[in-house]
Amino acid sequence: MTTADLTTTDRIRRNPGHHRVLTGDRPTGPLHLGHYFGTLQNRVELQRLGVELFVVVADYQVLTDRDRADNPAEHAENLVLDYLAAGIDPDRATVFAHSAVPALNQLLLPFLSLVSVAELGRNPTVKDEIAHSGRSTVSGLMFTYPVHQAADILFCKADLVPIGQDQIPHLETTRTVARRFNERYGPVFPQPEALLSTAPLLLGTDGGKMSKSRGNAVPLGATEDDTARLLRAATTDADRRISHDPEHRPGVAGLLQLAALCLDRTPEDVAEEIGDRGAAALKRLVIEAVNEYFRPIRARRAELAADRGFLRDVLHNGNEHANKVADTTLAEVREAMGTV
Ligand code: TRP
Repeated sequence: MTTADLTTTDRIRRNPGHHRVLTGDRPTGPLHLGHYFGTLQNRVELQRLGVELFVVVADYQVLTDRDRADNPAEHAENLVLDYLAAGIDPDRATVFAHSAVPALNQLLLPFLSLVSVAELGRNPTVKDEIAHSGRSTVSGLMFTYPVHQAADILFCKADLVPIGQDQIPHLETTRTVARRFNERYGPVFPQPEALLSTAPLLLGTDGGKMSKSRGNAVPLGATEDDTARLLRAATTDADRRISHDPEHRPGVAGLLQLAALCLDRTPEDVAEEIGDRGAAALKRLVIEAVNEYFRPIRARRAELAADRGFLRDVLHNGNEHANKVADTTLAEVREAMGTV
């Protein structure tokens, strides 16, 4: 279990029925091993503890940094496929898409009235994304999507949000929106808490953060051959003595970290085993460890992938449930605001 602190974990264990988790992903491409160890595993563990899980396919958020989403339906289905393969149980979890839940999106309007333009402009993650978008203009959606993310979290009154470091500013926005709404109109929303993964940031095959957009990721659903090809091409160095030194040898460290996670050992331990047999031996070990670890997950994924109708049903049912929850919350919000 990888959560922020023991007291939160203890509270969850003691009373899983009192909590609700919301998290999600932008449907921009296949999930990779970084997502698996960074958050999917954590979601499945929370589910196992008996916490109710909502997972948003954040399709409107795709439009923050591009003009249109390519093949949105296909990407959404593939995201559902990765979720189910990783162990999210569609009978217990609600998996839904932004674009299918109108009342969630309607919450954005009153929520926008609760934050200032100056506050929006200070969000470091948004600033970073604007800097990296390579675009000459910043859309209103890019600037305001953290408030939309607050609607994702608050429409179902989630109190726990498993996220990575980069999402902390967005959760702060959510907490601000919840607090100000409650102060202004009366108590409607919880103050959600982040559940930070303690798994280290997974490094990609170039030694940088594993990321869809950097082309350094190993997809969850990659074949064993593709996995081998991707990992064999990882950047390493000429020093045959393998050591765990993330600062000076990021490529080697990334491979050691991946092997360590799959084998439930420490990176140092794996480095010692390889000794001075060099990067090629390390890569052979990592390839084997990854393919072994993900074999059952990939087998399940292949089975599910053959039934697109089932994936669509999962989303359809999730959307239906999310709509009921969102309609109820919106009615409460309108009541509190006196706009009935
Ligand atoms: N912004 C998140 C990401 O890029 C995806 C996301 C959308 C999300 N809505 C959310 C995460 C709500 C947590 C909670 O990964």
